[in-house]
Amino acid sequence: MDIRTALKLGIAQLRAANVPSYTLAAELLLLYATSRSRTSIYSHPEDQLSEPESQNYFALIERRAAGVPVQHLTGKQEFWGLAFEVTPDVLVPRPETEHVIEVALDRLAFRDLRAKQKQNMSGKGLLVADIGTGSGCIAIALAKELPAATICALDISPAALAVAQRNAARLGCSDRITFLESNLLDKISVVGAQHAAPQLGNQLSAEVHDSPLTSHQLPLFDLIVSNPPYIARRQATTLAVEVREHEPAIALFGGEEGYELYADLIAQSAAHLKPGGIVVLELGHDSLPAVRPLLETPQWTNLLATNDLAGIPRVLSAERTP
Ligand SMILES: C[S@@+](CC[C@H](N)C(=O)[O-])C[C@H]1O[C@@H](n2cnc3c(N)ncnc32)[C@H](O)[C@@H]1O
Repeated sequence: MDIRTALKLGIAQLRAANVPSYTLAAELLLLYATSRSRTSIYSHPEDQLSEPESQNYFALIERRAAGVPVQHLTGKQEFWGLAFEVTPDVLVPRPETEHVIEVALDRLAFRDLRAKQKQNMSGKGLLVADIGTGSGCIAIALAKELPAATICALDISPAALAVAQRNAARLGCSDRITFLESNLLDKISVVGAQHAAPQLGNQLSAEVHDSPLTSHQLPLFDLIVSNPPYIARRQATTLAVEVREHEPAIALFGGEEGYELYADLIAQSAAHLKPGGIVVLELGHDSLPAVRPLLETPQWTNLLATNDLAGIPRVLSAERTP
């Protein structure tokens, strides 16, 4: 069978199964099954597929038609221009989560500007926590943007941490990210201010671990970011099959209402941030009214809600009151 026919048949099969973005899905699976580039399949649609290529491709089409996400079939997803390994143990990184990175970088830059300091482009001396790291996408994107910052990536799921650690290794930033299995920040105890972040960087890089740490002592953070689970369990049946049956429940559901985790997340962030430290949280599409009041307290200042491209308040950020 030639490439053109295989693509047409794959698209038709996915469309008949009501798969969203069926053309793109068929194309991605064909690229993956044949190890060809997009340019090659469109410039030589008459090329014949080998028998194993064809079998592999139509087997993938069938699994996609049955609800398996493309990313679980190809094992990868792009985020912040970087290629991440994904498995059923982690949430597939979503494009809207890139706003968390944008807001974090903007707020750090704005804080320097306001303090009339030279902008700390490299993140030198900054200590950052990513709570609920999943695939590691936020921690790793920040490690790339702030190449001198020290990052602690936490997750309650050891299986997710294993994926995040592989991503950090492949993307060349294992030496600056410490992985910790923890319920929110429970496993981090705060050490005295005499341990400044630059020394900590050396301390952490001397402790590059093959498996997540079980507890750690750290000074206060400069930045805490999190995309916590925020879907309401009562809405589980309304989710697409790709999400409901293939992504980990621990990464999806924040509780019966969805926003339950934010209260502890914000209280723990307040206890672990330096004065003037920044918290940046991703929100569910309807979480703002429940979460915003948690940051409208004397502990926090400069509260900002940022919309995503669909106009939904997606990121809430604030500074720890000095
Ligand atoms: C919505 S996913 C976000 C994953 C990744 N940061 C991203 O943006 O794609 C939430 C993550 O939080 C983790 N998680 C859930 N409850 C947690 C808790 N109490 N403490 C720490 N991590 C938790 C899940 O295992 C999951 O990896």
